Amino acid sequence: MSALDAARTLFVELTGSAPEGVWSAPGRVNLIGEHTDYNEGFVLPFAIPQRTFAAAGLRDDDRIRIASTFADEPVEVALADLGTLFPTPSGAEPGVPEWSAYALGVAWAIGLAGAAAPSRGVDIAIASDVPVGAGLSSSAAIEGAVASALDDLWDLGLDRVTLAQVGRRAENEAVGAPTGIMDQMASMLGRPDAATFIDCRTLATESVPTGFTAEGLEVLIIDTQVKHSHSTGGYRERRDACERGAALLGFGSLRDADASDLARAAELMDDVTFRRVRHVITENQRVLDTVRVLAADGPRAIGELLVASHASMRDDFEISVAELDLAVETALAQGAVGARMTGGGFGGAAIALVEREAVAQIADAVTRAFADAGFAAPHVFTVHPADGPHRDA
Ligand code: GLA
Repeated sequence: MSALDAARTLFVELTGSAPEGVWSAPGRVNLIGEHTDYNEGFVLPFAIPQRTFAAAGLRDDDRIRIASTFADEPVEVALADLGTLFPTPSGAEPGVPEWSAYALGVAWAIGLAGAAAPSRGVDIAIASDVPVGAGLSSSAAIEGAVASALDDLWDLGLDRVTLAQVGRRAENEAVGAPTGIMDQMASMLGRPDAATFIDCRTLATESVPTGFTAEGLEVLIIDTQVKHSHSTGGYRERRDACERGAALLGFGSLRDADASDLARAAELMDDVTFRRVRHVITENQRVLDTVRVLAADGPRAIGELLVASHASMRDDFEISVAELDLAVETALAQGAVGARMTGGGFGGAAIALVEREAVAQIADAVTRAFADAGFAAPHVFTVHPADGPHRDA
């Protein structure tokens, strides 16, 4: 059954009637620009064809009920109680099951973003074909699908950047993951055959044609199956190091730093903080270079930038894992144009930009290399830049 049908079927099981509509939003992959978003820097992600669907309808009371194909029981609360659940005290577990906090958090945050607090209850059933924990932003896809559904059902008329901000607020303040805004913006602003250049300080965006399809290139996703969570641990530590580094340099954020600050940074900070700072400074420049090189020389010319980005994440930011390094090295050894880990790190997926004819051979080589290394079998598939949210039914 398709994820769209699964959402609709679940809604009927939940309520006994058909949904008023089904809305969906895509996952995303990041072409380049990692851990730059919360430093007010630059990113270049694109939305992928895998989507999350929210079948939804208004209720006659003031309650919100969320069901999902990946949970046994629905979760139901009064709309007025959302404000007692969120924001979660910093670092605390959400007061509802985590899977439901994405959707309930969106309902809470969209209520704050709209002109008037919504009072009409709603039922929502969620199904998805975005793999969870693969670094493809299954969470932003849920947030985007639910935000789009509520925006329509509650007749709020919010624009896509505002809906992205709603999603990020849900993630930060309802789920408690201290992430930036890249994933929600990438999902909301997806366009076929284009990546979205985002200035995470101003939220100005530009659609950047990738030329992948026309040039006969494919983006291979190598999902290592190593699961990660950004609510805890390494992600937050990296964020803290960036803030420390910016403060030592006398900047509000690392966006204000560039290569000319590196010598000063080396004097001012310990080696670890310095390397975190160096990653962000050089990665911002690589994003700008990728946009320029794509336009000037086409997608085959961005390979070196992707490879340099991976090296910086492995050596300076230290967010790669052995599986991601092996995926990247094997893809490159087999002739990939470029490859890098993508997303927050500590697991998840790598991307490889490859010739269409080489997809099967590179996928096989990676799978074999994983088996030889004693790693779990990776999930390897291709994606292409796809559309943002829409109403499906
Ligand atoms: C996760 C976060 C994003 C971003 C990336 C790293 O995907 O959700 O906001 O920080 O990690 O680039």
